[in-house]
Amino acid sequence: MRGQEDARRRDREDPGHRDLFHVPPAEGGRYPEAAYLAGNSLGLQPKSTRADVLAELDAWATRGVAGHLDGEHPWLPYHEELREPAARLVGALPTETVVMNSLTVNLHLLMVSFYRPRGDRIRILVEEGLFPSDSYAVRSQASFHGLDPDETVIRSVDVRETLAAYGDRIALVLLGGVDYRTGELRDIPGITALGQEAGAVVGWDLAHAAGNVPLRLHDWGVDFAAWCSYKYLNSGPGAVAGAFVHERHLAAGLPRFEGWWSTDPTTRFRMEPVARPPATADAWQVSNPPILAMAPVRTSLSIFDKVGMDALRARSLRLTGYLMELLDPRLVVTPREPGRRGCQVSLRVPDAAGLTKALRYGHGVVADEREPDIVRLAPVPLYSTYHDCWRAAEAVAAEVGTR
Ligand SMILES: Cc1ncc(COP(=O)(O)O)c(C=O)c1O
Repeated sequence: MRGQEDARRRDREDPGHRDLFHVPPAEGGRYPEAAYLAGNSLGLQPKSTRADVLAELDAWATRGVAGHLDGEHPWLPYHEELREPAARLVGALPTETVVMNSLTVNLHLLMVSFYRPRGDRIRILVEEGLFPSDSYAVRSQASFHGLDPDETVIRSVDVRETLAAYGDRIALVLLGGVDYRTGELRDIPGITALGQEAGAVVGWDLAHAAGNVPLRLHDWGVDFAAWCSYKYLNSGPGAVAGAFVHERHLAAGLPRFEGWWSTDPTTRFRMEPVARPPATADAWQVSNPPILAMAPVRTSLSIFDKVGMDALRARSLRLTGYLMELLDPRLVVTPREPGRRGCQVSLRVPDAAGLTKALRYGHGVVADEREPDIVRLAPVPLYSTYHDCWRAAEAVAAEVGTR
């Protein structure tokens, strides 16, 4: 196995931006800091987040209601400040992007517009291992349309094959951009094109993709997408999420669930009974945004803007490549091809919960598990180090007995 000195040398030659983040202390092992490899679950807190949240608390304390219009970051147009950096992150036009709500809520709001079952074309195609929240969401959408979820939702192990066989009956395809268990990066442009050729609308859950892999949602022609901000976007537990609607749908008059934030901001305070939605993704907003929760997203997006997704992706591939080299290949279930993986390296082990616990309390390595047999290790290029990867591989080898 490559040694600790080699890891330290790599960190000197290829440093990330760990100094921008709070790294929790280790709960076991020989090193003071945790080897934090759980940024795919909850990203670490940027050191600048606290000041940015406090600034909004101060604005509230000192300005009261005037904070909506005055101050450095007035609250009324606050979400507009997040639009462009979020659009850059997912490869979208600013008009196609909105930061709002949480992920599953956004999927629902988007499916209200994009899942329109008609005639024989009523089925929803999802992947076999779809994240449970998304599965509950699509099933409840089917019920909402008076359909039987068991007859409507197709859980497919081979999406391309299912599209070829049943494409003419599929109204909506909803998939995860990066598989939350294996860390596999899906062929988002390829599957989007296939689904659309079959006549379906194609949407993506980008929870594990946003801030992890470069995305080109506009160019790929994705119909709609949503993502969360608490994983790779480091915006805190339950952070405000994002949504994308392709430009070609913006002026199409799609049905929507609306509230006062769906309407044109220049006429919002006329208090008219009928909304006048702008031809932008903002039209999918419903309520006024939670500013104290939006501030960490603004902080985080500014870090992505400074560092750049391409640089992060390059370092991510170097870190995961190094980690995979150190791990017993028999345990790794994540695809090895760079184009088919993001930050996350998943292991299949007999006792995932037991191993995760041992890594944390015995070695100070923070990973997480997905029942029954997956342990996930995610070196995040913003703050993880080669030394973190080396510690994780040493700890896995010691615990699984594959040294
Ligand atoms: C792939 C995926 N989809 C959906 C969700 C649910 O997100 P939320 O609770 O923010 O709606 C998660 C949460 O971890 C997730 O990993």
